[in-house]
Amino acid sequence: MNAQKIAVVGGGLMGHGIAYLFAAAGHSVGIFEPAPETRASVPERLRSIVDLFGDDAGLLQNVAVHDQLAPAVAAARFVFEAAPEKLPLKQKIFAELENAVAPDTILASNSSAIPSTEIGRNLKHRERVIGTHFWNPPHLVPLVEVIQSEKTSGEVLRATMELLRDAGKTPVHVRRDVPGFVGNRLQHALKREAIALVAAGVCDAETIDIVVKEGPGARMAVLGPMEQSDLVGLDLTLDIAEVLYADLDRTAGPHPFLRQKVGAGMLGMKTGEGFRRWTAETAGAVRERLSRFLLQQAKARRKTVA
Ligand SMILES: NC(=O)c1ccc[n+]([C@@H]2O[C@H](COP(=O)([O-])OP(=O)(O)OC[C@H]3O[C@@H](n4cnc5c(N)ncnc54)[C@H](O)[C@@H]3O)[C@@H](O)[C@H]2O)c1
Repeated sequence: MNAQKIAVVGGGLMGHGIAYLFAAAGHSVGIFEPAPETRASVPERLRSIVDLFGDDAGLLQNVAVHDQLAPAVAAARFVFEAAPEKLPLKQKIFAELENAVAPDTILASNSSAIPSTEIGRNLKHRERVIGTHFWNPPHLVPLVEVIQSEKTSGEVLRATMELLRDAGKTPVHVRRDVPGFVGNRLQHALKREAIALVAAGVCDAETIDIVVKEGPGARMAVLGPMEQSDLVGLDLTLDIAEVLYADLDRTAGPHPFLRQKVGAGMLGMKTGEGFRRWTAETAGAVRERLSRFLLQQAKARRKTVA
C-alpha cells in the first residue's frame, strides 16, 4: 500500500501504540495529545517500542506530535481516535474533526464499548465513521475488530480493513455495532461464569486461572470455539449444552461478589488484592510474563509475514 497520512487523536496508552504500528508500516503519522506531560512522553514511549522489536529508530521520523488537533490531522486519509472513553468527549472530537479534515477522510474510533454509530450520530458525513477496536498493547496483539456502524459505507470498510491488514494486523469485520463488539462479549461471558463459580465456592480464583491457562486456553490460540465445536461434533456440543446451560450463571447485571470486592477497595494488582492477593513482585512477574509472551508471538508473526 502507498504511504498515507494517518492521524491519531490521543497519545495515551493505546494512541502511541497505534501510531507506532502505522509508522512501522511506512505511513506518516500525526498525533494530537492535549496533556503536556503525556505529549512530552510520547517520543520516549515510541522509542521503547523500537527497542522492544529491535526496529530501526529512523522510523520514528515518520511521527510528529502536536499540541493542536488541526495540524495533526491536516491532509490525513485516516484518523484514529484514542481519547478517553466518554461519549460526549468523543462526539465533540468527531464534530471538530469534521471541520478539520476532507469530507472523505475516514474517521475511526478505538472505543472499547461505545458504538461509533452514537459517536458519529450528529455528523454530516456519517458514512466515513467506523469502529476500529484495537487490543492492548496495539503493537503486539494482532486483532482489530472493525465495526460497521449503521451508516458506514462498504468502501470505508474495505479501505480500513486493507490499511490494517497491510500494517500486519488481523482485522475482522463486525457487521453490527453491538455493545462490547465480539471480543469483549466473549471475554466477559467467561469472566461472568468464573466470578460466579468462585462466589459459589466451587473453586478458588487461582484454580480458575489454572483451569483456563492449562485447559481450554492451552489450545485456544490455535483452536477457536466454533472450530472446536465442529471438531468434537455439534451432536456432542448439543448434548453438553442440554445438561449444562440451565446451570450456568444468569445473575442479572454484575455479580454481587464483584460489587462487594470493588466496594471494599479490592481492585486487583493496584491495591494488592482483587480476586487474588498481589505483591509488587508477583504483579510485576505477571506483567513481565505477558509482555514476553506477546512479544515472542509478534516477532514470530513478523518473521512469517517477511
Ligand atoms: N486501555 C486499553 O486496554 C484499551 C483497549 C482497547 C480500547 N481502549 C480504548 O481506547 C481509548 C483510549 O484509551 P487509553 O487506554 O489509551 O486511555 P489513556 O487515558 O491512556 O489515553 C487517552 C489520551 O487522550 C488524551 N485526551 C484527553 N482529551 C482529549 C481530547 N479532547 N482530544 C484528544 N486527546 C485527548 C488524554 O490526555 C490521554 O493521553 C478509550 O476509548 C478506551 O476505551 C482502551
